[in-house]
Amino acid sequence: MNVPAVAEPEATPPAVAATEVRIAAARVPEISASGVPVSEVIADAADGERSIVAFLCRECAYSAADAAGNARTSLPPTIRTIMVPCTGRVSPLHLLAALAEGADGVYVAGCLEGQCHYRVGNFHALDRVAFVRRLLESVGVEPERAAMFTMSAADTPRFVATARGMDATVSRLPRLPRS
Ligand code: FES
Repeated sequence: MNVPAVAEPEATPPAVAATEVRIAAARVPEISASGVPVSEVIADAADGERSIVAFLCRECAYSAADAAGNARTSLPPTIRTIMVPCTGRVSPLHLLAALAEGADGVYVAGCLEGQCHYRVGNFHALDRVAFVRRLLESVGVEPERAAMFTMSAADTPRFVATARGMDATVSRLPRLPRS
């Protein structure tokens, strides 16, 4: 009688082929309030230079950024801005897509706590950024690549300081490896 050969169990489990997880920027829900698609800004961030994608609430942080531009205040060239209606519209997917597609850092800037024009949008954003930071840390990526700031529309110095601070933080980190 032929007894089928039984394969010897392997000492170590076979290596699992690395699966490349990528989030296509074109699949990211559109939230831009400026007419410039999010995917375009993210694609621009992937030009090979170090870049940081900033999601700015139209009601406050973007106004502060606008005032900085009008005053010809110099900002780090790494910063790529996306105007959003409220930081509550920014999902973890937007942040992760930006990092996956080329940015070395991402941040969300919204109204001061208690002053969101949609009441709780910035609290949702705070939770989501915290979630993304935990997620990054869990896979060995520096959590400081993602951040959240709040400010008033009139607080241009804070907008400039946060942009420069993010640039300094991200500049100290190695480039985010991508295949
Ligand atoms: Fe500015 Fe909601 S309207 S964070």
